Amino acid sequence: MSVKYTVPGLSTDQVTEIITSLQKRLSAYNDLHLTLKHVHWNVVGPHFIAVHEMIDPQVELVRGYADEVAERIATLGGSPQGTPGAVINDRTWDDYSVGRDTAIAHLGALDLVYNGVIEDNRKAIELTGDLDPITEDMLIGETAELEKFQWFVRAHLEDIGGRLSTSGAGSESAATDAARVEG
Ligand SMILES: [Fe+2]
Repeated sequence: MSVKYTVPGLSTDQVTEIITSLQKRLSAYNDLHLTLKHVHWNVVGPHFIAVHEMIDPQVELVRGYADEVAERIATLGGSPQGTPGAVINDRTWDDYSVGRDTAIAHLGALDLVYNGVIEDNRKAIELTGDLDPITEDMLIGETAELEKFQWFVRAHLEDIGGRLSTSGAGSESAATDAARVEG
């Protein structure tokens, strides 16, 4: 990736580092909004309508974040890679593993999906906090909303004592199993 120009006050070396980080966030958001639609289409059972309808506003939000991140890359002088191949190339996680399944099973798996996206966002916030507070500010705003949606997900997985059924689950299958027991 070579940058021919960038925003005033940043060096091309600094911007190359920021763009490398943002490209991974772009692919993470593209993966996430597609995964959320997959859940929207595959959820079944008594809580179908609640989860089916809860997902769509989040799809729109995350699609908007992909756009925001891609346009920040372009503003910085880079070329955002928005193809399916770029998503596969950039991702460090496996494809979402749950097919037609109950709301509680999908929410258990989604809790883990959000753990991954949010942890990586926080790393990008740390990096850009040193280099570019404007990019940092964008990522902070996005991450706050992602954390809020994860609370929506977790509220279904939480008991009245505040314990999460997915606590300690290291894989989507472990999380779906744990969620099913509680659900
Ligand atoms: Fe739909």
